[in-house]
Order: sequence, then C-alpha cells, then structure tokens
Amino acid sequence: MEQNSDTERNQIRDICADHIDQQAPLLPILHAIQSRLGYVPDIAIGEVADALNQTHAEIFGVLTFYHDFRRQPPGRHQLKVCRAEACQAVGGRAVWSAAASAADNGSGVDVEAVYCLGNCACAPSIQLDGHTIGRVTPDRVSNIVTGANQTRAPS
Ligand code: FES
Repeated sequence: MEQNSDTERNQIRDICADHIDQQAPLLPILHAIQSRLGYVPDIAIGEVADALNQTHAEIFGVLTFYHDFRRQPPGRHQLKVCRAEACQAVGGRAVWSAAASAADNGSGVDVEAVYCLGNCACAPSIQLDGHTIGRVTPDRVSNIVTGANQTRAPS
C-alpha cells in the first residue's frame, strides 16, 4: 500500500511538473491525475497545493466543486443511468433506484446519473461500460449489475 502511494505521489509530481508552466494549471493537473490514476487521491491535494503554491483548502474546494472528479478508485464497471425527462416519464426513477440498490452491495459497479444518453426512443436507458441498453426495467437493471459483478472489467 505504501509503495502504491509512493508511486502515485511520484506520478502526481510528474504531472504537476508537466503542467506548471501553463496558465491556470489547476484543472488540467486534476484532469491529468484522474486520467492517469483513475481518480484523484487525497495525497494529490497536498502535492498539487505545494506545486502551485496554493492552500490545501483551495485545491480541495476546486476538486469537490466539480462532480466529474472522482475521489475514490473507480469500480470495475461504470453504469450510467439516464435521469432525464424521457426516461423519467417511462419508469426511469425506479430503474435508478434498482441500479443504486444493486450496486450498493459491494458490486464493483459505479452508478452515475446522467442526463440523456441519446437513446430516448428506447427509454428508459442505461449505459454499462460504454454499451447503451434501452427499455430497461428495475429487474433487468438489477440483473445487469449482478451480471457485471461476475465479469471482469472491459480492457
Ligand atoms: S432522456 Fe434518457 S436517453 Fe434521452
């Protein structure tokens, strides 16, 4: 574990060094960290603050303001559930609840609300690891989460 955090710390330092000369480098640095590590670990706050000569609170504030930044390592699978109007009108709320409930049990599936997957004609819609699935029901989404839990992440 210590070795992992040392490796991450070195990667974060490299990323900071690569971006330090940019104008307004904070967001590019945070995006690069997430791109490299899959998330922005807590150790990044101090490293980035030191590199940019800013406070930890300033870095934390930006990091937590943008919901796109993930602060925990990602699950093995990413499930996006549409919560926009067309899906909500045909049962999307129940699909969301079923997905969140199924994923809550250590499933290795991260569930994220999104607002239109461009599949409104087949609502309610979800997307698992980039694969869009339409006309889902609460039972079907529960089965999809359970099934994903039993498979490896796509490479
Ligand atoms: S509103 Fe759900 S896919 Fe468009």
